Amino acid sequence: MNIDFSKLLIDWYLENKRDLPWRKTKNPYRIWLSEIILQQTQVKQGLPYYNRFLANYDNVYALANAQEDDIMKLWQGLGYYSRARNLHHAAKTVVNTYNGEFPKTYKELLKLKGVGDYTAAAIASFAYNEAVPVVDGNVYRVISRFFGIDIPINSTEGQKIFKEKAKILLDKKRPATHNQAIMEFGALMCKPKSPDCLFCPLSSDCVAFQQNKIKELPVKLKKLKRKKRYFNYLIFQSEDKKWLIRQRLQKDIWQKLFEFPLVESKSTVSSLNDISHELMDICAADGPRFERLNQETYKHVLTHQDIYADFWLIEISNFNEFSIPEDYVAVDSQSIRKFAIPILIDNFINQHILED
Ligand code: ADE
Repeated sequence: MNIDFSKLLIDWYLENKRDLPWRKTKNPYRIWLSEIILQQTQVKQGLPYYNRFLANYDNVYALANAQEDDIMKLWQGLGYYSRARNLHHAAKTVVNTYNGEFPKTYKELLKLKGVGDYTAAAIASFAYNEAVPVVDGNVYRVISRFFGIDIPINSTEGQKIFKEKAKILLDKKRPATHNQAIMEFGALMCKPKSPDCLFCPLSSDCVAFQQNKIKELPVKLKKLKRKKRYFNYLIFQSEDKKWLIRQRLQKDIWQKLFEFPLVESKSTVSSLNDISHELMDICAADGPRFERLNQETYKHVLTHQDIYADFWLIEISNFNEFSIPEDYVAVDSQSIRKFAIPILIDNFINQHILED
């Protein structure tokens, strides 16, 4: 390499970096929290959540002692809810196993739930200046383009090669700044689409730029076919405008979030008359009448699946408390706000129920 990759990168970073709160601290709790939030979330979306979590849970003890449902509620809207459950689990581990002090090395940090290779390297370098490279999507892209490597970044071979490159490039004297710099460079300059190559300090030695391959790199293996799922939500509504909700406990999307009673079907259905559901016996004896509340089926896109959802109103006079299984909760338009619910359902409530 003719140029000093890391020096140019860091010089660029010091001039152009965004002013972000987790970059002004060495507090491992704050850095860990920011990195978990930013794992699958853009800075702009994650920032208010970061501030809200700190406002509610200023330190690892506060988070460890929190109610899981409160954490889920605060996480509502960020998606990938296993991150929130793991956050709580790891906070308890830090308190109970490490006496409230975060582990201080990359290797030890890896033992915390929800802390993988990337996050351990981020915390170890940012909080303790340990010389370990971070390799996230930004870093894969920068390295792939700069060296012109077309091995898929999500293949086992690719991951090994890119991590080795990242290790060689790392400025061992300034690992924290180097790691922030390469990620920021990927986020702001070497963007997935229309990167700012004309202003790039690395372009003279960038293989992709010199060989006009920016659009082709990095290479990623195609994902498996997406799964389609069809959700029919049953809104049992009493005359005093209460509805039943229930917590999702199964190993599936949205674990620990609350939702209306659900019947999943193989495709969208035009009528629910043949439905079987454990709550049906709370309906009138002459059989329930279903009214679809949404005109268009809701489509909710997740990473590996598309959810198609319809919402069916079933009016009943009142809930007979003896026929409602105990894992259901009756809520009204105010109290439902206290529960962590999927954004799909939150959108539905805002559009249909609160209009009344
Ligand atoms: N994405 C993940 N970690 C980040 C960080 N520390 N700063 C900005 N974006 C990030």
